[in-house]
Amino acid sequence: MIKVFVPTLAAMLTMSALAATKPAAQLQFDASQGVAGSVEMPNGKVNYTAFTHLYFVTNVEDSTYQYVNVFVPEGATQRSPIFLKTNVGGYMPSAPGFPSAGDATGMALQRGYVVAIPGSRGRSSYITKKGKRLYNGKAPAAILDLKAAIRYLRHFDKEMPGNAEKIITDGTSAGGAMSALMGATGNNPAYEKYLKAMGAASERDDVLASVCYCPITDLSHADMAYEWLFGNTDSRKADDEAHRQVSQELAAQFPAYINSLGLKKTDGTPLTADNYLDYIKQQLIRSAQIAKDAGADIPDSIGFTLSNGDGGTFAPINGGVGLPADMAKGMAGARGGKRVGEYVTGLDIEKFLNYVASQTPLKTAPAFDALGVAGDTASGENDEFGNSSNIPANFTSYSAAKNNTAVTDEVKEAEYLLNPMSQIGQSDVTVAPHWYIRHGSIDRDTAFPVALNLATKLENDGKDVNFLLAWNRPHSGDYALNELFDWLDKLAK
Ligand code: DHB
Repeated sequence: MIKVFVPTLAAMLTMSALAATKPAAQLQFDASQGVAGSVEMPNGKVNYTAFTHLYFVTNVEDSTYQYVNVFVPEGATQRSPIFLKTNVGGYMPSAPGFPSAGDATGMALQRGYVVAIPGSRGRSSYITKKGKRLYNGKAPAAILDLKAAIRYLRHFDKEMPGNAEKIITDGTSAGGAMSALMGATGNNPAYEKYLKAMGAASERDDVLASVCYCPITDLSHADMAYEWLFGNTDSRKADDEAHRQVSQELAAQFPAYINSLGLKKTDGTPLTADNYLDYIKQQLIRSAQIAKDAGADIPDSIGFTLSNGDGGTFAPINGGVGLPADMAKGMAGARGGKRVGEYVTGLDIEKFLNYVASQTPLKTAPAFDALGVAGDTASGENDEFGNSSNIPANFTSYSAAKNNTAVTDEVKEAEYLLNPMSQIGQSDVTVAPHWYIRHGSIDRDTAFPVALNLATKLENDGKDVNFLLAWNRPHSGDYALNELFDWLDKLAK
């Protein structure tokens, strides 16, 4: 029987307090335990059946986070795709959530997708053992939990509505990085020993598609990309001498990295440090053109050159000699004055990057591995690579060297497990065949090359990639949802 269930914060807290903490003999799913609920969408209510507190490992260390909630909309079948949303932000722990009209989960339900919202441990989460805090949510804990959730869905695929061969992951920012990881690390044996120790199901963990909004990923190269892109902005020029030097040193490392990737442009020609800035410009011009076509106003001041095609492609009337005087009389602007097209033809990238930096102040250099460099303290990413005593760590050789140390083997391993870039194209990894990647054109939380390299590497590897530097979007996600779900419907339904 289905009970009516309205999730309140109090209910959720009570449930996590009651959650099991002892290792279970085996994973559980009981299809009779569904609870009715609904989400109010702008165009009507969507009813669902909720299955909550589905622990995805038998060795539950942290009962607040290591479970998944699954929501089955009315009409869903065994064949319905599964939309798996991670709410990870800032590499922090993320509690299993409920569907919302405010993100992609509401629309997913409305479009008939089964929705799964797993929790995962994060950089600030800990358990108490013998009176001491054990920080067990540091890298790579979050991706381990999420992979365990995928395996759980596969393990109970027959018992649960939805098709676990059609899992689509979605996340924003650090969650975008997690979504990219779920997409790019399928079945990689490197995770096996950890997943086994956790008591994750012995199942495949590859997925059909990965939706990544502004992924904060490739952390070991994100600092050099940031300074290479933003290093010449007015904002950087105003920095103190120590930070300017850091910026220049990091920027100088980027060309070798780009060249080492061996990427190719769509036309098959090599993408190198020499043509990379043009590649970014083309992406920004493409974004601006799409926006312009949709009616956006693109002010002159931000660096784009627009042509309205005057005197160019206007379809000739009267043999191409212009309008006869009697026809032209009284028209708002015959021939030359008429807008016949709106083409974005060029971009002053320095101007545009200054504009981006004027929208949200840049991060200081280094943007990510900041600990102990030019007097800076630990960033969230240093915390993510910290140890179980909550001591943050450097994760790039550049920043470690500034502290007269080297990146430890443990951190190197965690960085590998947290980086999709090195796993794409690896022979024993199953990478998702479909990708939807967005990074806002005014997002400065990480530099454009991070998302662009991910998209390009996937494309070069033969994957279906829908990439855009989304016009005028800051650091944000789950936008343009009609467009997203129209794309997803085609591949998943
Ligand atoms: C997020 C944003 C950041 O700037 C960052 O460095 C890491 C994570 C986030 O929004 O998740």
